[in-house]
Amino acid sequence: MLVQEQRPPIAVTVVEDEPAAQDVLVRAARLWDYPCQTASTAEQAVQLLERNLTPIVVTDLRMPGRGGLWLVKEIRRRWPRVGIIVLTAGHEPEAAQECLRAGAQHHFFKPIKLDEFRHVLEKTWREYQRQREQDDLHDTLRRAVRRQTRRVRRTFLSGITSLVRTVEQRDPYTAGHARRVRNYALQLADALGLERKQRGQLGLAAVLHDIGKVGIPDRILYKPDRLTAEEDRVIRAHPEMGERILTPIVRSRAVLAAIRGHHERFDGGGYPDGLSGEGIPLLARLIALPDCYDALTTSRAYRPALPKCEALAILEAGAGSHFDPALARAFLELAAQLPE
Ligand SMILES: [Fe+2]
Ligand SMILES: [Fe+2]
Repeated sequence: MLVQEQRPPIAVTVVEDEPAAQDVLVRAARLWDYPCQTASTAEQAVQLLERNLTPIVVTDLRMPGRGGLWLVKEIRRRWPRVGIIVLTAGHEPEAAQECLRAGAQHHFFKPIKLDEFRHVLEKTWREYQRQREQDDLHDTLRRAVRRQTRRVRRTFLSGITSLVRTVEQRDPYTAGHARRVRNYALQLADALGLERKQRGQLGLAAVLHDIGKVGIPDRILYKPDRLTAEEDRVIRAHPEMGERILTPIVRSRAVLAAIRGHHERFDGGGYPDGLSGEGIPLLARLIALPDCYDALTTSRAYRPALPKCEALAILEAGAGSHFDPALARAFLELAAQLPE
């Protein structure tokens, strides 16, 4: 009896323009515990299904109006899970085949034989149920995968965050740089009205942007004097190094591109790829601003922190050469509100 308990209040839509045939189909279906609703044309059936979708539709092929074939196609297009049975006259096997090709599950012939009707109805119901079970299972799995992904992501992020902290704590000057760049970048994202997904990618890229520095020896990274050409080359490798470290764990290409591109310059004079203008990924252009601002307003081994107004003047002067001018304008507006 389990099967019947799971049956919805109305299980079958019978679409048939001949009242006598409709009556036979409905009486028989009800007798076998398939509650029915009825329509006399394909158009009426669609209206009915919009209000009350049933798992099964039994339709005649020849009806006034657009007819059964149109109905089959329409149902397939709009409600792919609905089981369709087509009722055709014995002399039109070609049309029946066409309905099956259009997506009907089964067909049976007029004049109606009840055992034949019962057979296709039961079969279609079983198929519908099996499909629904599969869908439920699929949903459960999808939810479980999503839950696990969130968990893995959280673990990954906390691991990465402590890695970033480890890198920064090698030098008191840069402690908190990644976190501050992220905070500024997110404020910039909000000011620009970035969509949620992009905002998340920006936040992640901002936290991770200097992760490639993990491999740079302290004597180079924190050298107070001028760097040699070779030392400079090592420093300049950190965006690519960061991309390489994260490629196996970060799936988002946008995040990786932002990390690789955060030292590109709008005028093409940056590194590692010498990209220019809008050829530089948007997220990289965005990170460049808070990255520079934070570097300028915090003390470094080779110079003390600059006052905010001086840092902003430097950014302003770099709009159009170092930075994307439109984004620089937005950041300057925002940074003017930031505390000293
Ligand atoms: Fe960097
Ligand atoms: Fe940085």
